[in-house]
Amino acid sequence: MPTTMHSRNTLTFFVNGKKVEEPNVDPEMTLLTFLREKLRLCGTKLGCGEGGCGSCTVMASRYRRGRDHVKHYSIVACLTPLAAVHGLAVTTVEGIGSTQTRLHAVQERIARAHGSQCGFCTPGIVMSMYTLLRNHPKPSMDQLDEYFTGNLCRCTGYRPILEGFRGLTTDASAGGGCGRKDCCKLRAQGCWEEGETSNGDVSDVNQVNDISHVLYDPENFRPYDPSQELIFPPELKTPNEWESQYLAFKGPRVSYVRLVSLEQLLDLKAQEPEARIVAGNTELGIDVKFKNKNYPVLIDPAIIPEVTAISVTETGVTFGSSVTLSDIEETLREQVNTHPEYRTRVFAAILEMLRWFGGKQIRNVATLGGNIMTSSPISDLNPLLAAAEARLTVTSKEKGEREVVMDQNFFTGYRQNLIRPEEVLVTIHIPYTQQVSPYVSSLPSRRRDDDIAIVNAGMRVAFRPDSIAVERLRLAFGGMAPTTVMALSTMKELEGRCWDSALMEAGTSLLLQDLPLSASAPGGMVEYRRALTISLFFKFYLSVRGRLSEQFPSLVHPLTKAEQTATQVHRYIPPQGTQLFQSVPPGQHSLDPIGRPITHASAFKHATGEAVYVDDMPRFENELQAAPVLSTRAHAKILSIDEKEALGIEGVEGFFCWKDLPEERNKVGPIAADEELFASKKVVCVGQLIGLVVAKDRATAQRAARVVRIQYEDIKPCIITIQDAIKEQSWWTPLTITKGDVEAGFRSSEHVLEGEMHVGGQEHFYLETHAHLAVPKGEDGGMEVYSATQNAAGTQRHVAAVLGVPLNLVTCRVKRLGGAFGGKETRNIMLSVPISVAAAALKRPVRISLDRDEDMQMTGGRHPFLGRWKIGFTKEGIFKAIKMDLYSNGGCSLDLSGAVMGYALLNHDNVYRCENRHITGYPCKTNLPSNTAFRAFGSPQAIIVTEYMVSRVAEFLNMDPDEVRLKNMYVSGDVTHYKQTLERCTVRRCWDEVVSQADYHMRKEMVQQFNSSNKYTKRGIAALPLKFGLGFIELFLNQAGALVMVYTDGSVLLSHGGTEMGQGLHTKMIQVASRVLKIPVTRIYIDETSTDKVPNTTSTAASLSSDLYGMAVLNACTTIMQRLEPYIASNPKGEWDDWVTAAYFDRVSLSATGFYKTPGISGYNLETNEGRPFNYFCFGAAVTEVEVDCLTGDHSVLRTDIVMDVGDSLNPAVDIGQVEGAFMQGLGLYTLEELRYSPEGVLLTRGPGTYKIPGFQNIPREFNVSLLRGAPNPRAVFSSKATGEPPLLLATSVFYAIKQAVASARADQGFSPVFRLDSPATAERIRMACQDSLTQKIEPAVLNNEKPWSVTV
Ligand SMILES: Cc1cc2nc3c(=O)[nH]c(=O)nc-3n(C[C@H](O)[C@H](O)[C@H](O)COP(=O)(O)OP(=O)(O)OC[C@H]3O[C@@H](n4cnc5c(N)ncnc54)[C@H](O)[C@@H]3O)c2cc1C
Ligand code: FES
Ligand code: FES
Repeated sequence: MPTTMHSRNTLTFFVNGKKVEEPNVDPEMTLLTFLREKLRLCGTKLGCGEGGCGSCTVMASRYRRGRDHVKHYSIVACLTPLAAVHGLAVTTVEGIGSTQTRLHAVQERIARAHGSQCGFCTPGIVMSMYTLLRNHPKPSMDQLDEYFTGNLCRCTGYRPILEGFRGLTTDASAGGGCGRKDCCKLRAQGCWEEGETSNGDVSDVNQVNDISHVLYDPENFRPYDPSQELIFPPELKTPNEWESQYLAFKGPRVSYVRLVSLEQLLDLKAQEPEARIVAGNTELGIDVKFKNKNYPVLIDPAIIPEVTAISVTETGVTFGSSVTLSDIEETLREQVNTHPEYRTRVFAAILEMLRWFGGKQIRNVATLGGNIMTSSPISDLNPLLAAAEARLTVTSKEKGEREVVMDQNFFTGYRQNLIRPEEVLVTIHIPYTQQVSPYVSSLPSRRRDDDIAIVNAGMRVAFRPDSIAVERLRLAFGGMAPTTVMALSTMKELEGRCWDSALMEAGTSLLLQDLPLSASAPGGMVEYRRALTISLFFKFYLSVRGRLSEQFPSLVHPLTKAEQTATQVHRYIPPQGTQLFQSVPPGQHSLDPIGRPITHASAFKHATGEAVYVDDMPRFENELQAAPVLSTRAHAKILSIDEKEALGIEGVEGFFCWKDLPEERNKVGPIAADEELFASKKVVCVGQLIGLVVAKDRATAQRAARVVRIQYEDIKPCIITIQDAIKEQSWWTPLTITKGDVEAGFRSSEHVLEGEMHVGGQEHFYLETHAHLAVPKGEDGGMEVYSATQNAAGTQRHVAAVLGVPLNLVTCRVKRLGGAFGGKETRNIMLSVPISVAAAALKRPVRISLDRDEDMQMTGGRHPFLGRWKIGFTKEGIFKAIKMDLYSNGGCSLDLSGAVMGYALLNHDNVYRCENRHITGYPCKTNLPSNTAFRAFGSPQAIIVTEYMVSRVAEFLNMDPDEVRLKNMYVSGDVTHYKQTLERCTVRRCWDEVVSQADYHMRKEMVQQFNSSNKYTKRGIAALPLKFGLGFIELFLNQAGALVMVYTDGSVLLSHGGTEMGQGLHTKMIQVASRVLKIPVTRIYIDETSTDKVPNTTSTAASLSSDLYGMAVLNACTTIMQRLEPYIASNPKGEWDDWVTAAYFDRVSLSATGFYKTPGISGYNLETNEGRPFNYFCFGAAVTEVEVDCLTGDHSVLRTDIVMDVGDSLNPAVDIGQVEGAFMQGLGLYTLEELRYSPEGVLLTRGPGTYKIPGFQNIPREFNVSLLRGAPNPRAVFSSKATGEPPLLLATSVFYAIKQAVASARADQGFSPVFRLDSPATAERIRMACQDSLTQKIEPAVLNNEKPWSVTV
């Protein structure tokens, strides 16, 4: 480091208008840690720590002195080094508005439009939108889409977020439904309904109320006023040294310098070649965090003129290596708009690709230089730059400047290139295209937004003058080797040849030779990747031929219509849709909230960042943080645990493992205590907890956890997949349900078919990872546990048992969860209990908040299933007998695997009648992390197998699948295989309505027409029905408690046993209380769920909580009303406050408990098939249309229509939110999300970078949801029904629409339309199922003695 220079070591920047001066910044600290830990601005969340979820989005603003302009850009605080924000103004969600002062227009809209559920993603989304508005006060929907490419939400399904913000765009007409005014707003105030039934039902069963489509009134939104925004700090504009200061910070392990000149940079590089330039930190940050790398000297080049300049020359554009991708986009767009098209074809290709590069927040900081220097084999830019023959200037102090061409020699090995360590990449020159140089890039991905391509290509061709003979061809590929590679022999062999089909044929064969891939290649998907290379070349061939045919019409045939579809580029279409629901009955009091789309009770707090999650809670003075030590082997003896080095690290306060507990207390589990809290003698999966390091802060604990050394000795067998488990017969007790005589059924069937389907698992991907805090009470060995759990009582029970204290000394408190979906029902035990052990031993509070990769490795998810089926049926398609064996991958402990399988057996029939059934479930025991509860609990896996069976019957009989479905569809009075009679079965109504709403029959024909004239793009449309049973099988779980406390000022504090995880439970409970107490919702507050208010609760699961707790709340509130009755009678003109005051002075108790147990159910015994498992059923139906790119396997959902029976909705906004959110989660399950495990049981997909949940781009372009009207449910509170889980299953319609599209593609190419498609229908599976002459060229990837990169578990 240059020592002669005067350096500044105080970091100065602004946060929300306030100046922050920070001396001695630790270069390893991120902006996120500083905001959350130092400034306690906890609105900015940590969702992944790898730049992939957008929860930590903040706005950075920089004054561009030359242009006298302030540039605002969204960034991810989790990857931004704190040291990099010198001279910037940072705005967080707290800086733009609050519930205490004034809400910003963005905050108000996302909240009122029901765009937040758990709220964890909301601040990040608010800040992306806010940044957009600061740059473009009236943006287009297209820009909005661009700004949201880096934000994920797991709850809402995105539609309401876009809808809420639509009013701020140029597309402002919509704003919710079609924009008409809600009639209920105009309705005269009626009176509170009287005459409740036992479930509080006030609806007349025969009455069908008006339909409404207005979930909120956009007219009420405050207009956006840009003049009210926080001004950019004038101090940062003053012409001083902000942009010319030499900065130096020295931390314990890393030094950071911001240099001001290239000369300084070269000097430093000459002295310390290993010093690393840190530009956007989007690669380096990942290396440090996830690959445990340490770079002792970091150089920030942000103010060095040579590396930040952009210059346009005669031959092209030269970018400084540290120019950000967003600035490159801006420049290239300007070039494309101002130059002849033929000159800017390379630029256009780069622009097309950049749209899908990372998220907006990544592009705002990531640099071209960083991408080139990383030399990743899957870089999206490098193939393009290589094909364009970009020229680089590199320089060093000793050897001076040299020019390097990005060609086949540039990349020298995995993440290596020929630029030497002491050299600096200064500029990148991208040339204009000169001759006829058509150019394409393509980006096949699992998810469009923010996704690195699996294989990508940069291809360029130039022709001899006035000829179609190739002069020069450049073909560069990413994803096919350890480096970006050029297809050298293909390029050479094709030069001089005419651009015709013979060239295409020869090219594809040559490419396959040029780009071999071993069957065990890292990244897997070997056959698919090979197919992609030639498919992309084929697309390129066609698009070039299309252009040549215009230039040489006599030599080159124009593209046929069918061929044109192969060259289409994806274009953004703003999503649209309607939401329809039943209006409240005429005359319902305007303040009676039941049936109205009331805003989520925490929505405004979500939008302002005020909502507190466990990791946001203020730190206790002597608090410690914990980090887990996890097993790296799937099945092995633990030979030794050595924590000495970890304990030697400054700030580490302790290490805890099995030795800290008596053996019998080290065993836990919700059903069977078969899991060790800390692994003792052996480990049974990768990711199992071995120990816990406790330290002064999280970073220290994590660093120490990495140096705890474990020695193992592998144990055989190591069972990873379901197939392994079947071979070893490794399962817990199989479950069977039999109805009728299945063998006799087969004998009497005219046809019998058999088949098999695998359904992949799913990661919960709640945006808030597991977070828990244990605080010793200080007396009597008691413990207070603040936990992000769905199961407060279960947590209390486990903590008490392991600590050896009675339950009354342990309190579990749950404020809210940032999403859960089943993942926080039992698996939290493995964290909240260990930290309680540590807290009890150290007598200090201990908190843990997992990183995303830890969470994904440790906590399990949805069970993968293998379904084997056999069906007998008549020639008319009537089912006579069904036999099904379901195998689930349960992982290493029982957890809830038995119950999950139980629900799969119960719900597998979906809506289909069959007199003879024999269904068996095998919950397999494997060496994977224990799989657990997940929204809809085994039913999605079972039902998609059933639907596969149904579609096979239709294919076999050459019958329309809808006909088969309708012929076998249940009606009221039918009896299921578990002997429960279906009452009020509305599935046929839902089906008929959705068929009509979706114009299904007409669109089916249109799809056929489309497919007959399109060869490489195919469409599919499918209608799927749904039945889903609601109830806990175990009778005792069907109970609930509540506590209502009325204070003397008339305000009401409500508590109940359910937890709020985004599903709107608290909101609905407040609505129930409001109706019964006849007071506005604003007077009722729910603070938290706590075991010291409502004891012995059932976990918030199975969609049942509003049913159960709603009735308990109703019960408690009714008691209060009965007590107030005399005061109301004696003062009928009085108001609530008068009656409460009178009762108080009359010494009447104003607190009441409520209790409910579901009547008319008897529990269900799976072994005997006796009892009634379900209280009632939910029904629904969906129609989905998709479009598939047969050459890449990419698909998009064009339209989805759903009709869902939710009874009389308690809150249509919440229920529609659940329908849309669940559907999108199902869409992820069945099409995008793929967990990949190595053969050794290591999870390879551990974060948003590799595991793709649906993003904004994946929502159906048209999404219409309608709640069935006139279907009150007498078996739940106020005639409502549950909505949390059932709609997820309707995403089977996406899967089967895709399957249909693929079948059409296969038929066109002369292949059988009958084929196996496992779930998820990923791009890989779709492409490989769309067999054609290209896939025929791919030899099967045969493993000899190698292991595959990943296995299907
Ligand atoms: C969420 C996320 C999404 C992403 N999506 C994509 C994607 O879609 N496609 C894709 O290709 N990549 C993607 N990436 C990878 C990454 O963003 C890019 O490679 C990016 O261009 C790196 O730029 P950077 O400025 O952040 O590099 P940094 O992390 O700052 O640096 C990367 C490396 O380059 C070196 N370096 C930087 N500048 C110079 C220089 N001038 N001279 C010498 N060495 C230098 C650094 O020392 C370091 O070794 C993604 C990353 C994240 C976190
Ligand atoms: S936490 Fe920063 S992007 Fe996910
Ligand atoms: S509301 Fe978006 S993640 Fe929960």
